[in-house]
This record gives sequence, structure tokens and C-alpha cells, in this order.
Amino acid sequence: MKPLTFAVLRLLADGEFHSGEDLANMLGVSRASIWNALKEADAMGLTLYRIRGRGYRLAEPVQWLDKSRIISALGAHANRFKLELIDCIDSTNTLLMQKASGAVDGSVLAAELQTRGRGRRGRHWHANLGGALTFSLLWRIDQGVGFLTGLSLAVGVALLRALKSLGVSGAALKWPNDVVHHNCKLAGILIEVQGDVLGPSLAVIGIGMNLKLSERTKAVIGQQTTDLYSVTGLVPERNHALACILRHLAQVLDIFAVHGFSGLRKEWVEHHVYQNKNVRILLPENGTDEGIVTGVDTAGALLIKTSDGERRYNTGEISLRAGHVL
Ligand code: BTN
Repeated sequence: MKPLTFAVLRLLADGEFHSGEDLANMLGVSRASIWNALKEADAMGLTLYRIRGRGYRLAEPVQWLDKSRIISALGAHANRFKLELIDCIDSTNTLLMQKASGAVDGSVLAAELQTRGRGRRGRHWHANLGGALTFSLLWRIDQGVGFLTGLSLAVGVALLRALKSLGVSGAALKWPNDVVHHNCKLAGILIEVQGDVLGPSLAVIGIGMNLKLSERTKAVIGQQTTDLYSVTGLVPERNHALACILRHLAQVLDIFAVHGFSGLRKEWVEHHVYQNKNVRILLPENGTDEGIVTGVDTAGALLIKTSDGERRYNTGEISLRAGHVL
């Protein structure tokens, strides 16, 4: 995506019509360049009205990320984070992992738009410009990578706490680390780690939270998905929402640093949407098991009471067995 496209879209942030000529004058480029730049708006998942005689207007004005707003909303937690905002990147996780060796603890990379957002299990993570929060946080610890087991579930707890303080009720967790609302995905977590068995190590914690996805983006995702706007009828201010998540991450990571996932397990289980439900788990080699979810262990593995006794699962996809709710 061209830097000029972002510059033009910023001028359209007020949701008003702007003529091509005015936009061109403000940016010191030709009208043809404006027209060309805005051709990319469709690919960004935006709906742009182009009306002869009036100019251009965004159907849904974009709320841009703003460092000073995020810092002020972080309050006392501000010195814990080093923020970097970027207009367009393939994936914040990919870039932060590449930069990890020279990056300080608390580095946050947030993107207005990802062109190749990555999800778990090799999936894509789609979000249109302004429709979501997509960012990654680098967290360093002295312990080895083994200590990070269960971290993705702990991050789910932080997201639920943040959603609660943003006034969102009814959100829940789905093992291993989806945040859902009525079984539709609201947010996802992708954690990548680097380090030694004996330490030190680091985690890049990638978070995507849907705020108000465009219809086009929802159609592309093609799985049961939702956003905060669909759930509450409101879209939280993006900078405020990002700061709120970071504040809750800081608190949860402090607990994790001392107790590991054990310190958050009870809270996680209380919010597990399939706790005590009869589920089917699809295993990596395409096998399946069935049984009742009894909880998770201190490493974040799922515990299911099957016909062969209680089993623990480190990976897999779970779904509810219809008609078997306890
Ligand atoms: C999932 O549920 O599959 C995980 C989705 C994680 C998406 C976020 S968006 C910010 C960060 N950068 C990425 O490429 N992925 C994560």
C-alpha cells in the first residue's frame, strides 16, 4: 500500500466529502495521484464514495492510532511500554520476531493494516483498515521457554478483563485461546517464543481484536466471527481500547511472571465457554476424541473426561457436541 494512500485517507478521517483538487493541493500532488492512491481503498476493505462534483468520502471514517492518546490512556503503565505505530506491514508478529534481539521488553508494534496477518495453525488473520486492533507485544523473562507454557491462555484472561472494563459483557474464552461471544470469534492470540531451555527467553504476543469489521472483510473471513460493534452497538475509541488491553496485559503478565499459568487458571476456567460441556476434539492427525471438559491443567492443557478416563490435550480444535450439553 502506498504511503500517499494513507495520507489521503487521513484527510478523509472526518467523514466529509473532499474534492480531489483540495486533497491534491493539501498534499502537493496531482489529482491523478489522489485518484490512483484511492484505488487501494477497496483492497483495504474500505467503502469509498466517489461522487462527481463533490469528491471523495469514506462510508466509515477511520479512527487512526495516535501515540500520544495511547500514552495518556496508559497512565501509570506508560513507562512499561515502548510504542511503535506503523501504517502498513505484512504482520506485526513477523516484524517484531525479526527485531526481537534488539528490541526492549515492552516493545509494542501496532499496525493500522496488516497485509498478511497470521493466525494460529498457519491460518490468515484478516482485518480491514480501522476495523480492528492488530498489534504485538514483546515480553522478556529470565526463565527458559518452558516457563511460557500456558501464556496464551493467560493472555486470554487479560483480554477478557480488558473487554469487561470496556463495558463488553458476555465474552468468553474458548480453549486454547480464542475470545468468543456467543461462539463467534471476537479476538485471537498468536504467541511466538524465542530463547533457551535454561533462559533467558522472550515471547511475542500478537493480538487481533475485531472492533467493527467491514462486510467485505467478514465475507472473506468466512468463519463465525463477530466484532465489538455487533456485540455492543458501539465501537470503543481505538487508542483507548489498545491502552486498556495493554494495561490488563501488564497486570496479567506480572501474575504470570511469579506464578506461571497456575496463578490465572481458576479465572480462565470460570470463563471457559465449554467448561463441563460435552465436546469433540479434532486432533492434529485428524483423529477425534469426545468427552466432557473438566478444566485445564497448570500448563494450559485441556482436560477431557473420555470413556477411557481423563485425558489431557496440548493441541486440537474443540467443538460442542450438539444435544449433549450437561
Ligand atoms: C488466531 O486466533 O488464529 C490468532 C490471531 C492473531 C492475530 C494477530 S493480529 C496481530 C498479530 N500479528 C499477526 O500476524 N497475528 C497477530
